[in-house]
Amino acid sequence: MSEPAIDPDALAELRAGVGAVDRAALGRPASARAGTNIALVKYWGKRDAALNLPATGSLSLTLADLGTHTTVRFRPEAGAEAADRVTLDGAPADAKAAARVARFLDLVRALAGTRAAADVSSRNSVPTAAGLASSASAFAALAIAATSAAGVRLSPSLLSALARRGSGSAARSIFGGFVEMTPGERPDGADAVARGLLDESAWDVRLVVALTADGAKLVSSTEAMDRTARTSPYHPAWVAAVPGDLAAARAAIAARDLDALGAVAERSALRMHASALAAEPPVLYFNPATVAAIQRVWALRAAGTAAYVTVDAGPHVKVLCAEDGATRVAATLADVPGVRRTLVARPGPGARATDEEAT
Ligand code: PMV
Repeated sequence: MSEPAIDPDALAELRAGVGAVDRAALGRPASARAGTNIALVKYWGKRDAALNLPATGSLSLTLADLGTHTTVRFRPEAGAEAADRVTLDGAPADAKAAARVARFLDLVRALAGTRAAADVSSRNSVPTAAGLASSASAFAALAIAATSAAGVRLSPSLLSALARRGSGSAARSIFGGFVEMTPGERPDGADAVARGLLDESAWDVRLVVALTADGAKLVSSTEAMDRTARTSPYHPAWVAAVPGDLAAARAAIAARDLDALGAVAERSALRMHASALAAEPPVLYFNPATVAAIQRVWALRAAGTAAYVTVDAGPHVKVLCAEDGATRVAATLADVPGVRRTLVARPGPGARATDEEAT
């Protein structure tokens, strides 16, 4: 079988790490699970859009329970003209999502030297595209399931580089617990990978999520960060501040200092949103419940509960707190007008293969 037409430069960072391809794997299903992650030092802007290389580093916490379970099976028997079939949460994926998955599979096909179309089934336990970073767990799980189904073995670091091609934040979900993503300097992106800082059992914090809206976000993170980088006068200031935030977050994690980590997380999130708000046209993800929830957390903190907010490319509010404060934080947020639901998440493991198939 000949290889699909993929620009060889687009694969340079991955190809060097691929050993012998296991041809016998093709045709057998392979499954993986990944937890989503929430950035405490945000990623907001790319240095290369085609390779999905971030302009800055970022730092996150991978979560247990909230994530994606995916099964991939290539269909060599279907012939070169067959198309990929993608099922999300039990229904056929819309054209845009299916095309994004197919483009990602093209990379895996090129690495494996096959043109076989694939069946992909994926289930999310996070609301898809609602700003809860479902793409992070989705592409981390897909990276493991698809490479394994294609008979390609990659190191965790290269799986991170591959997952990054689907979604920048997905590179971090390959690892569990606290994770740092390095932007790298190489044009081919080989050094733009994540690494684990502290595993999920080492520090028992909680992330309380307050869902403040139903449905998909209005502006995709890709579009919003591109617009911010092109038009916001505050984006250069954002980029310049990130290394300091990363150093402070790393030190706080090493010292298990929740107040210090929370302070970094809050300022990183609010500065990211400030830079987006100054874009043209502006990007505003907050709704009234987002603002009310943030203010309620600040009131709780003033009354003595260590709790710190972060907000991603959507209206939901996530609160970093101690294990013994999580019930109080969740109950307080559930009371805020406009909050639909609250979830309490623990630190979770990195993406991993499983024998269980997603349906
Ligand atoms: O991975 P993407 O393209 O969905 O971008 C993620 C952007 C934020 O969630 C807002 C920040 C981050 O670092 O996860």
